[in-house]
Amino acid sequence: MRKKTLRQINVSGKRVLVRVDYNVPVKDGVVGDTLRITASFPTINYLLEHGCSIVLISHQGEPKGEHENRYSLKPVAEKASKLLGHQIEFISDCIGREVDERIAQMKPGEIILLENVRFHQEELDNDDEFGKKLAAHGEIFVNDAFAVDHRNQASVVAVTKYLPSVAGLLVEKELEIITVALDSPKRPLIAIVGGSKVSSKLDVLNNMMEKVNVLMLGGAMANTFFLAAGETIGKSLAEPDLIDAAKKVLASAKKHDVEVILPQEVVVSKSFERAENVRHVSVEEVADDDFILDVGKEFASALKTAICQGGTIIWNGPVGLTELTEFSAGSRAIAEVAIASGAQTIIGGGDTAA
Ligand code: 3PG
Repeated sequence: MRKKTLRQINVSGKRVLVRVDYNVPVKDGVVGDTLRITASFPTINYLLEHGCSIVLISHQGEPKGEHENRYSLKPVAEKASKLLGHQIEFISDCIGREVDERIAQMKPGEIILLENVRFHQEELDNDDEFGKKLAAHGEIFVNDAFAVDHRNQASVVAVTKYLPSVAGLLVEKELEIITVALDSPKRPLIAIVGGSKVSSKLDVLNNMMEKVNVLMLGGAMANTFFLAAGETIGKSLAEPDLIDAAKKVLASAKKHDVEVILPQEVVVSKSFERAENVRHVSVEEVADDDFILDVGKEFASALKTAICQGGTIIWNGPVGLTELTEFSAGSRAIAEVAIASGAQTIIGGGDTAA
């Protein structure tokens, strides 16, 4: 059954609860990449144009059900206000009497961002009662948080039991783009999968086999595949218990005629925390005390060759430890090749987008 979107319901003058994904990088109270904030503006502006009052809820980071200052959404509310050019009030909790009383007084055109829903364990447990308390903040629920929609958490799932629920304009757009890219892409269709864990992307890797022509694996994710191929990876991050799963992915790729590209060259360091004795080496040359922290230059060249006359690229997960400048060159090179290729490129995940 086709699900409803915001445009298909009457929202005029209503108080609307919107689940956004404001899981943006914040360091010492300063918001970094703001793409996820501005991406929510079409829905917010649509609701403002329809005379709504808006209660925004979001998570930020991975607090374990307790208040942690570094994960507060307060700086995000301030940044979002400035970017939107419209006051967004911040309230320091997402449930409770103070929150309920303030929301009850909201007037059309007012926007409130509530504190991080993950400061409550009930959010992580997809607790019904918690979902009900969140639902009480609005008359309609709009999910505009595509990046967190795979989580079985109360502000995504339980809340929908208690309110008429629709997809926001961002979710609508993201679904349209990814559906076209996966179902009728301009070929070749190349998936670049990086990030740290095979475990979190195993289903995605397996599901992609019937769709993609080329699968490029980078980041710490590739290390588990190196182990599956019998390479040594020194002290690099990997998931040895998933070597068999990685072998199955490789076998499935072969069966479906998917070309798998692993880095041939890597950038290694003697420390995981900082650049120490950094070297560019072939995979066979990784020493026992090395950490693999980025892909070498040839990885982006391999993408350039694979994409040839322009096709579609789907990219999720950086291919190096991009938090450190010394190990961000591989991911930057991938982005540059993608831009120059003219291929339709879809990037998923906050770190990759940044
Ligand atoms: C993301 O950044 O991928 C989303 O915001 C989801 O965050 P999570 O992985 O902490 O659930």
